[in-house]
Amino acid sequence: MSRPSLRLPRVLPQHGSSTPGIAPLLPLLPLLLLLPLQAGATCPCQDPALCQPLRNRPNFEVFVFDVGGKTWKSYDWSQITTVALFGKYDSELMCYAHAKGARVVLKGDVSLQDIIDPNFRTSWIAQQVDLAKTQYMDGINIDIEQEVNCSTPEYDALTALVQETADAFHHEIEGSQVTFDVAWSPKCIDRRCYNYTGIADACDFLFVMSYDEQSQVWSECVAAANAPYNQTLTAYDDYIKMGINPKKLVMGLPWYGYDYTCLTLSEDSAGHFHQVWYDNPKSISLKATYTQTQGLRGVGMWNADCLDYSGDATAKQQTEEMWKALKPKL
Ligand SMILES: *[C@@H]1O[C@H](CO)[C@@H](O)[C@H](O)[C@H]1NC(C)=O
Ligand SMILES: *[C@@H]1O[C@H](CO)[C@@H](O)[C@H](O)[C@H]1NC(C)=O
Ligand SMILES: *[C@@H]1O[C@H](CO)[C@@H](O)[C@H](O)[C@H]1NC(C)=O
Repeated sequence: MSRPSLRLPRVLPQHGSSTPGIAPLLPLLPLLLLLPLQAGATCPCQDPALCQPLRNRPNFEVFVFDVGGKTWKSYDWSQITTVALFGKYDSELMCYAHAKGARVVLKGDVSLQDIIDPNFRTSWIAQQVDLAKTQYMDGINIDIEQEVNCSTPEYDALTALVQETADAFHHEIEGSQVTFDVAWSPKCIDRRCYNYTGIADACDFLFVMSYDEQSQVWSECVAAANAPYNQTLTAYDDYIKMGINPKKLVMGLPWYGYDYTCLTLSEDSAGHFHQVWYDNPKSISLKATYTQTQGLRGVGMWNADCLDYSGDATAKQQTEEMWKALKPKL
């Protein structure tokens, strides 16, 4: 943030049409001409080296979703290896993450009908690469939670999209990371039938969203855990049995739960009784340990901003315990 005035000329050419802005642009011309001489001058970090993409290869991933705001300042940065920015881009976060050796990646979402057209894919991917470069980011997390049926054009187009995105990013941004979010089980959860092995081969790893596991209850709906232990782990065995290398799987943990209003606990219940299901440090810790014993790539969570970072003494202790639980205990 040391020279904010220099950020202006960078933005103008990016956003296309210069016609309406010719007159206001003129005073900036000397600055524009200077730019090539001042490599890194537009980097928003105090240390321009922090605008370089990361090249380290962590042994164990701790993959964090950030949904905006400033609570990221209270994350446990000693563990984080990647932050996926699902909120607004925050250059301060980018500089901070890079200083801590953590990658910062874009959110990628696109309509599956559009990507059947290879030309559309190419231009979409070029846009994402440009955006990542402009924002000094280290890759993209593709989060397409749309229905796909097997043997459809969308099915193959999705695999192609991931392959082409990974190829473009890896080529254009050295050390960059391309990942893809999948449901908790490979059994067509919520009609998302994807080519899991093809997608896993194509990208750096899959983020497995091991939560919302009651979404497929078609019979009587009875309150239950968001991410039951056995069901969660069995689904990893399913992914691995398909031929996906455990090193391509990051376990996504829920840092949120569900509050069910009991319908018939007693005759006059009227919403007074609730069942609340959530993961606590103990259940998180058991799952994190599984990632280690099975040789998975790492852990992560939806989302890092769910915890209470207010600084209140009890909250502070509980928040610390949630972060600590990510460290596998062997
Ligand atoms: C997938 O197939 C089902 C059943 O044939 C159909 O109802 C649904 O609309 C299809 N979904 C998509 C996205 O094509
Ligand atoms: C999945 O994708 C791979 C790589 O593109 C391809 O070789 C394989 O045939 C696909 N599998 C199915 C079932 O379409
Ligand atoms: C979970 O799996 C273990 C080992 O297969 C089994 O012993 C245990 O009873 C299961 N627990 C539940 C709640 O299903």
